[in-house]
Amino acid sequence: MSLIQKNDYDPPKSYVLRKGRITKAQKRALTNLKNLHVLPIETKKIDFTKAFTTSNKTLVADVGFGSGASLVYMAENYRNTNFVGIELYTPGIGSTLNQIENRGLNNLKIIESDIRELLQNYIENETFDVMVFLYPDPWPKRKHHKRRLLSEDFLELLHKKLVPEGLIYCKTDWKDYYSQIKKEFFLSKDWQKENLRSLPSVLKSLPKTNYEKKAVREGRKPRELFYRKISI
Ligand SMILES: C[S@@+](CC[C@H](N)C(=O)[O-])C[C@H]1O[C@@H](n2cnc3c(N)ncnc32)[C@H](O)[C@@H]1O
Repeated sequence: MSLIQKNDYDPPKSYVLRKGRITKAQKRALTNLKNLHVLPIETKKIDFTKAFTTSNKTLVADVGFGSGASLVYMAENYRNTNFVGIELYTPGIGSTLNQIENRGLNNLKIIESDIRELLQNYIENETFDVMVFLYPDPWPKRKHHKRRLLSEDFLELLHKKLVPEGLIYCKTDWKDYYSQIKKEFFLSKDWQKENLRSLPSVLKSLPKTNYEKKAVREGRKPRELFYRKISI
């Protein structure tokens, strides 16, 4: 019998911290703008009502926003919604900070964190209205599949952090990852599959992200998953 209890299970990280090339502008942004637009992680859970100066009620999270194309587009075009982007990739955070500042976005904040650790420790239950995952790292080799973020236990965590009727939207270009996520949703009683025609407008015309452009160039087809939380 395994000595590891389910709750003690610590899955392998879904990311490898990439150094990446960092431009001067990104570096400057990380020095000068972090305290304005990056929410600090302290000992308590994050209070999003205090984090924004807007009176917006809806909160959308873009997880693993990369260089920020989707996140900035949404925040700029939907000023009556608050957005939070969660990412660990330093150059991406730097470039998104610059875009927040240049476009005067007061409805967009960044959190620099591993999403799993963040949700487990610093986010109240029933916080997000929508959670977006655009091209989560696919980890194509079988021996790395356990690193894939959208696993059964992660979906359980997401279920807790979404408001009742909250939505998950995910795009992936990796067919077997798509099938795996679809199966996890199907096997759980916690989710209802939604018709893509009923996507909220904020998700309908997202620009192609860098990763999506690369996938299409390399001949991989983007596939979408759209589910609603069921509360029993
Ligand atoms: C394949 S990239 C996609 C980036 C962007 N969404 C796009 O479509 O261009 C996946 C991103 O997820 C981020 N990521 C992976 N695991 C993460 C985690 N546990 N918490 C936060 N971000 C994560 C990575 O740093 C990376 O930037």
